[in-house]
Amino acid sequence: MYNKFIKISEKIVNFNKKISVDGDKSLSIRWALIASQALGVSKANNLLKSEDVINALNCLKTLGVKIKEKNKEIFIEGRGINGFNYKKNITLNAGNSGTLGRLILPLLIKSPYKIKIVGDKSLSKRDFSRVIDPLKEIGVNFYPNNKKTLPIYIKGSDYLRPIKYYENRGSAQCKSCVMLASLNVPGEVVIKAKKSRDHTERMFKSLNLPIVLKNFNDFDLIKLSKPNLIKNINFNIPGDISSAAFFIVLTLLSEKSNIILRNININPSRIGIIKILNRMGAQIKLKKIRTINGEKCSDIYVKSIKKLKSINCPTSLNSSAIDEFLIIFLVAAKAKGMSYFKNLSELNQKESPRLKIATKILKMIGIKVESTKDSIKIYGNPNLKLNKNFIIKNYLKDHRILMMSVISALSLGGSWKIYDPDSVKTSFPSFFKIIKKLGGQIK
Ligand code: S3P
Repeated sequence: MYNKFIKISEKIVNFNKKISVDGDKSLSIRWALIASQALGVSKANNLLKSEDVINALNCLKTLGVKIKEKNKEIFIEGRGINGFNYKKNITLNAGNSGTLGRLILPLLIKSPYKIKIVGDKSLSKRDFSRVIDPLKEIGVNFYPNNKKTLPIYIKGSDYLRPIKYYENRGSAQCKSCVMLASLNVPGEVVIKAKKSRDHTERMFKSLNLPIVLKNFNDFDLIKLSKPNLIKNINFNIPGDISSAAFFIVLTLLSEKSNIILRNININPSRIGIIKILNRMGAQIKLKKIRTINGEKCSDIYVKSIKKLKSINCPTSLNSSAIDEFLIIFLVAAKAKGMSYFKNLSELNQKESPRLKIATKILKMIGIKVESTKDSIKIYGNPNLKLNKNFIIKNYLKDHRILMMSVISALSLGGSWKIYDPDSVKTSFPSFFKIIKKLGGQIK
């Protein structure tokens, strides 16, 4: 079978640019799913048009939801909680998206018919028992009974019960799954959750849904009751810091370059990368900070930096940088000294086993690395300059492995052949357009 690839054989030269990145993926998927349960028409500006989000919209259309696009705005016509209208024997395809696969299930927990949920090769390898188990406790049925991966069938129930749920992985998907289930569960659902991104909590609050939140140092306590109604939700979606991350690092590692990233979501539960890189010596600044739809946003200013220090990364920052570790590891590879990242077993549960693959890539470019199942020690080399040939196969087509490889090639040199460039469409369709705008040479 023919596999597409790109070639990069020149480092990027100094740039000084202002850019915008595509809309936030977590917010785009959450908005679409919650808007489908609202009563009336909800509107989103700057919704991410990536495959993960398009799959979310397609799943909702299969469930009978009317969705329209006009002048770059997306409109979802909600018919209230459980207002779906669908036939027997439908299949919902979550594609590559763990967030969609795991967050659509709680919207189906009263379904009178079995609904089949499928995903691509990568998603079909990922653990779904983490959301199936709490939903079963609520009273939802899954077939085959003990299956932990997609494809799987879900069938709802009229006899749902509230649960007390302890989320101990720091997974926002698990927490949000149970939160969304509470929309259909009589009585009080209580969640004790290790810290993770809190977009669902913020959306519930901005919609005045019955939620009581208590924040402690290591965990959050969330109490939820069934709302009578969800009102429509209009949302301006800011840029995704997980996409901005690649350009933050490209700028840091390039020579004499500056970048301003406009209107990025800087929700405190998402900015681990900025805290980590600033501790490593970067001077990333947040300017024009404002709050829109309960989410903090700002412009991000970054400049190249010659001297980067290693870091013993505090595990308290893990969940707020979970999607950015690949690109943070690249910075560690150029920092002086040994950087240590631990308690990161969740990284091997992503679109591909990222801790394992990052270890391979770093070793390939000549960096000394020691890794275990859940940790990595990176012995940085500030003088790292590449001049060999490198091939990246990326067999699970992980979008972030692809983007990490492109940034490595553009900032470190060498001659790279990188497969499956279309994987950027999962989360960041404008990635290559921005690279070109900055002067990156890609063949
Ligand atoms: C996400 C949560 C994280 C993250 C994923 C998006 C979300 O996953 O890796 O890309 O939108 O809730 P986990 O909840 O599994 O950590």
